Amino acid sequence: MSEPTQPVHTTHTVGRTRVLTGAKPTSDLHVGNYFGAIRPAIEASHNPSNEVILMCVDWHGLTDRSKILEPGKYTAAVLATYLTMGFSLENNMIILQSEIPEIPEIAWYLSCVSAVGLLERAHAYKDALSSGKEPTAGLFNYPILMASDIVTFDAQVVPVGKDQSQHLEYASDMVRLFNNAVGRPVLFEPKPLIQSTPLLIGVDGERKMSKSYGNHVPLFAPKKDIEKRIKEIKTDSKGLDDPKDPETCAVFQILKSFGSAEAIEYMEQRLRTGTGYGYGHAKKDLIDEHERVFGSKRELYEHYINNPRELAQKLEPGHTRARQIAATVRQRVRDALNLGIL
Ligand code: AMP
Ligand code: TRP
Repeated sequence: MSEPTQPVHTTHTVGRTRVLTGAKPTSDLHVGNYFGAIRPAIEASHNPSNEVILMCVDWHGLTDRSKILEPGKYTAAVLATYLTMGFSLENNMIILQSEIPEIPEIAWYLSCVSAVGLLERAHAYKDALSSGKEPTAGLFNYPILMASDIVTFDAQVVPVGKDQSQHLEYASDMVRLFNNAVGRPVLFEPKPLIQSTPLLIGVDGERKMSKSYGNHVPLFAPKKDIEKRIKEIKTDSKGLDDPKDPETCAVFQILKSFGSAEAIEYMEQRLRTGTGYGYGHAKKDLIDEHERVFGSKRELYEHYINNPRELAQKLEPGHTRARQIAATVRQRVRDALNLGIL
């Protein structure tokens, strides 16, 4: 009989795939984040064959000393955004990483099987070195903490963007190193799901939408700020009646990232035909759609931000379940290492 390669005793729910992903609370969220990360996680939470754990990874946000106060500042905004936009908490969890003390404990065990050379080859660490920054030990250890997020919850599938594929390879390496070191499969090896969502363009019509470029469209800012931002979107100089190419039009690309199928089809047709539909009209339609999708939920979002206790209460059943899973995995790991007195 061949040896099992995955642990026999896992915490999985029969008939459900445990999908785990992480979001760093390091800034207010924008339409690019919604398109690339928030909407896919919300959609996954509505699939009954999934058990989604969405982790707000505040510890991961602390690795830059000069920005160490940011995760504490933005956590409520991130949690409120997922809830406001419809993440289903039925059978799924939104959890705050720093509420789960088993994660750093298991990270320690992983660090004891990981070679320093592996971490030295990590892209984020190498980038920090080559740009002359002084990387903190937190940044150096970042991949271990991330691997621990994954194994602490016996995650089966981990959807991430392309930029995270090295971190997932490292997580698999660490699982194998640990299982080999203790002589049996104790940690569950997850499957990466590398998402190929293209990056959404910013209002400059040139670079990806990013808060650090100042070319972003926020989700829940006051309406007048959203209007101002959308009016800034760069377009070419085609006139009111000229046919326009939706593929190269940033107004259309941004609409496509969150709009309804009808709104998208309407703008696409009007741009292509041209007649009587200029970029001013397109921007007005984009503002209206933004208001319908996000503006109509601004009050709920602000309600959560102003009532953090209610936010915490909504997440509590998920935190309770997550703590149970983490405690079970921790015990499995400690038993494998023969730690403890009894
Ligand atoms: P960041 O704020 O850059 O750490 O982004 C958090 C997540 O949001 C990333 O992992 C991406 O999935 C997503 N994201 C950020 N900016 C964009 C963008 N311009 N287009 C699509 N997805 C984005
Ligand atoms: N490193 C990821 C990022 O920057 C965030 C993250 C932390 C994560 N822990 C995770 C993603 C666990 C997936 C699973 O986007």
